Amino acid sequence: MNFALTDEQQMVKDMVTKFAEAEIKPIAAELDHTHRHPEEICRKLGAMGIMGVSTPVEYGGAGMDTVTYVHCMIAISKACASTGVIVSVNNSLYGYPLNTYGTHEQKLQFLAPVAGGKAEGCYGLTEASAGSDAAALKCRAELKGDKYIVNGTKTFITNGNVASYCVLAATTDPSKGYKGVINLVVDLKNTKGFSVGKIEEKMGILASGTSELVFEDAEVPVANLLGKEGQGFKQMLSSLDAGRIGIGSQACGIGKAALEDALNYAKERVQFGKPIATFQAIQFKLADMATELDAAELLLLRAAWLEDNHLDFEKESAMAKMYASDVAMQAAIEGVQIFGGYGYCKEYPAERHMRDAKICQIYEGTNEIQRVVIARKLLEMR
Ligand code: CAA
Repeated sequence: MNFALTDEQQMVKDMVTKFAEAEIKPIAAELDHTHRHPEEICRKLGAMGIMGVSTPVEYGGAGMDTVTYVHCMIAISKACASTGVIVSVNNSLYGYPLNTYGTHEQKLQFLAPVAGGKAEGCYGLTEASAGSDAAALKCRAELKGDKYIVNGTKTFITNGNVASYCVLAATTDPSKGYKGVINLVVDLKNTKGFSVGKIEEKMGILASGTSELVFEDAEVPVANLLGKEGQGFKQMLSSLDAGRIGIGSQACGIGKAALEDALNYAKERVQFGKPIATFQAIQFKLADMATELDAAELLLLRAAWLEDNHLDFEKESAMAKMYASDVAMQAAIEGVQIFGGYGYCKEYPAERHMRDAKICQIYEGTNEIQRVVIARKLLEMR
């Protein structure tokens, strides 16, 4: 593994960092306050290829790699965690299964608009009674002629209220367990029987919409099936392996924002006649935050490098997501502590980082599930 970026990787990283600092960070507090989907930012990132960083140019993406994706995600999430998760879902949970398992025609029709930044995608997996136990999903897809008739409700779907397209996990036969799961690409804007359900009120990532997707006798052409029947669950788990690199990077970006803000504040805030940065109690917090976030970034880059080199990265992406989100949460808590009373108030972004960091320990597999994934690999149970 070579830590030096290629000229092209460096160029994309610099371009996205500059854009995030100039155009996303200044509106992050407003987005958090109004819960507004950052439409204009999404279109601009799309035009830069960042809604499909590793998607081939032919299908609207930037044709780069996962290492570049990690750097982009960290820079964007450092500026605004809500924008970070929107980018992650378009790239990973929607883009990855289409890019990996879709046909040329499916990619042209459904991947290109999202990777090219013209529309949002989402991934419909979770249900009220199928969270960590993803194989317990009940959303039904019955084949009738050349269409699947879909019935069921998906919950907690990131981008659900704004997405034009969805990769939907459903079962053709619940008695088959995970072997009955299929993935269908659904054109949400042109499918009768589909509607957006309840929009969640959340603790953080407030500019990222989270909603139910409701399917009532919705007709989806059989041509929209990804791969073959029987392959859906494994497609889904491998997409989550890839997605966890995106969420780990989101967490790392949030943690870096917490560190940067705390560092600047500690240099300015004077108590007992000196900036609080001169006190060892504060210095130790900053040192721990910086060390842990650097370690998280290295874990993320290792997972990305393995993916780019077509090596197994299941354990490594789980490790990176788990560790990055745990240390980001810790950094955000310490960030609030360094700001003291001001950290608890909305005048500063420290409290937003804390609210935003928490979800990274929960979605795309709770950190308890990440430990299950890691332990199963260590014990050669899979
Ligand atoms: N890749 C490919 N195949 C895999 C795999 C992987 N990573 N992991 C397991 N498999 C295979 C197994 O080998 C097995 O196949 P065989 O029988 O042929 O050997 C099959 O899949 C079933 O495996 P398991 O019996 O191990 O499956 P399980 O039901 O025990 O589940 C789990 C395993 C790891 C717990 C999985 O259910 C899981 O990851 N759960 C968490 C779900 C999750 O992450 N949800 C997030 C929702 S999306 C989201 O949060 C998005 C957002 O908002 C941003």
